[in-house]
Amino acid sequence: MIGKMFAVALGLSVAVSIAIADEERISFPADYSTKFDNYLSLDRVQNDDQIIRLFANEIALRAAKEGSELPNGSVIVGEVYKSKKDKDGNVVESSLGRRVRDKLAAIAVMEKGEGWGAAFSEDLRNGDWDFAIFSPDGKRLKKDLNACRSCHAPLKETQHVFSFEHLGK
Ligand code: HEC
Repeated sequence: MIGKMFAVALGLSVAVSIAIADEERISFPADYSTKFDNYLSLDRVQNDDQIIRLFANEIALRAAKEGSELPNGSVIVGEVYKSKKDKDGNVVESSLGRRVRDKLAAIAVMEKGEGWGAAFSEDLRNGDWDFAIFSPDGKRLKKDLNACRSCHAPLKETQHVFSFEHLGK
């Protein structure tokens, strides 16, 4: 009896520690701004007061240029900026009709790793990609990563990457 309870308790603690490890398996890609390529920058399409600058590492870019599947080790970074606002709080547009960058708000990351998708249900699975988000100084932010997963999951045709066509340009 005691043995069984112990086994159950042990099983639970293993499950909890795996869940925590999974949430933190992407580490902050500290050298992205010098080592990665800024392949696209745009006014965010689903947020009306943000701008995003997108970076990808060499592994992802090379595969995209060759037209092959993005391999494990691919990393894509989105620098999310607030848009500049006027004194009434309206988003400022430049003479090009584009938003203007204000403060860096967060750094969103997608990374692909061996077997990373296996534990997810279909609606949250992004192949073997997973997600993380950090503050501008590289601290992990506590956000619901399932929100990231469920919005990117339907994009099967473009390997769960919204900006896929721009990667291999
Ligand atoms: C409601 C949908 C939605 C949610 C939720 C979402 N994203 Fe995205 N993501 C997008 C769209 C759309 C883009 C294309 C660029 C843009 O407009 O921001 C994008 C782009 C990205 C990119 C650049 C690669 C690509 O797919 O083009 C990364 C990295 C990224 N998101 C990470 C995250 C992370 C991390 C989270 C959760 C903290 C997240 N996303 C939540 C819709 C979403």
